[in-house]
Amino acid sequence: MNLVSLKDVLEPAEKGGYAVGAFNANNMEIVQAIIESAAEERSPVILQASQGAINYAGLDFIVALVKTAAQGVNVPVVLHLDHGTDFNQVMRCIRHGFSSVMFDGSKLPLEENIARTLRVVEIARAVGVSVEGELGKIGGTEDEITVEEREALFTDPAEAERFVKETAVDALAIAIGTAHGPYKGEPRLDFPRLKRIKDLTAAFIVLHGASGVPDDAVRQAVSLGVNKINIDTDIRQAFTSGITDFMKKNPNNIDPRKMLSPAKAEMKKIIKEKMRLFGCSGKA
Ligand code: G3H
Ligand code: 13P
Ligand code: ZN
Repeated sequence: MNLVSLKDVLEPAEKGGYAVGAFNANNMEIVQAIIESAAEERSPVILQASQGAINYAGLDFIVALVKTAAQGVNVPVVLHLDHGTDFNQVMRCIRHGFSSVMFDGSKLPLEENIARTLRVVEIARAVGVSVEGELGKIGGTEDEITVEEREALFTDPAEAERFVKETAVDALAIAIGTAHGPYKGEPRLDFPRLKRIKDLTAAFIVLHGASGVPDDAVRQAVSLGVNKINIDTDIRQAFTSGITDFMKKNPNNIDPRKMLSPAKAEMKKIIKEKMRLFGCSGKA
């Protein structure tokens, strides 16, 4: 199928009370693992590439890989830029065929975040590309800050209402207690805050840093209106353990295909589990 926008997969998700998984890819094996999982689960899917992924693989390679994989399946696929912070890079992604982009102005003062996000929305909307914005700071698990300091960075519901009204973003990434990377302890999500944001905004709600979040917390987040859920770390861990386990058993192997096949199988296992947890399995 041709690539579709966030709206195409998240509108049915909002109506149906499920979320769609957004999985990060950096190379061919990860792209294949994500798209094959979606086809086998009959699930809509969002495949996202970060600026780091684009620097690593090259923009043309990412687009060609994802378009080729999407053409071979019968489920909707979104190609989304993850955490775009550079206006020119966002424009290059749109020109090269991304069907959706994130402009992450979360480190900017509110007024500037609104102004820069709006500029991206105006251009993207004109060519049918969806936009995700971010408000509040999601951060990383490695950040040396206390729980209180992290809570001070959570998304303010009133600001979220204003941000969505003034930018008209399709989707909004919010900070409610998740973080990027592996968690040291168990993440605690601020569900009342999520509910207030959902009640006050018309945008689709995005949960970043969802690897390692307990299943019950994910289910509750979905029941309170999270529409898109981002997973990267779980895929990285599956990729690495697939290769490591294989090489432990076959220390003399020098064939990349032989170690990448179990890596792909491990990634598909976790991606499919997440699709079932998010409720998007069987929805395409
Ligand atoms: O949110 C960040 C994603 O996990 C992408 O990470 O910038 O290392 O590709 P990256
Ligand atoms: P994790 O790596 O913690 O799953 O976060 C992924 C993410 O939010 C990508 O934007
Ligand atoms: Zn993220």
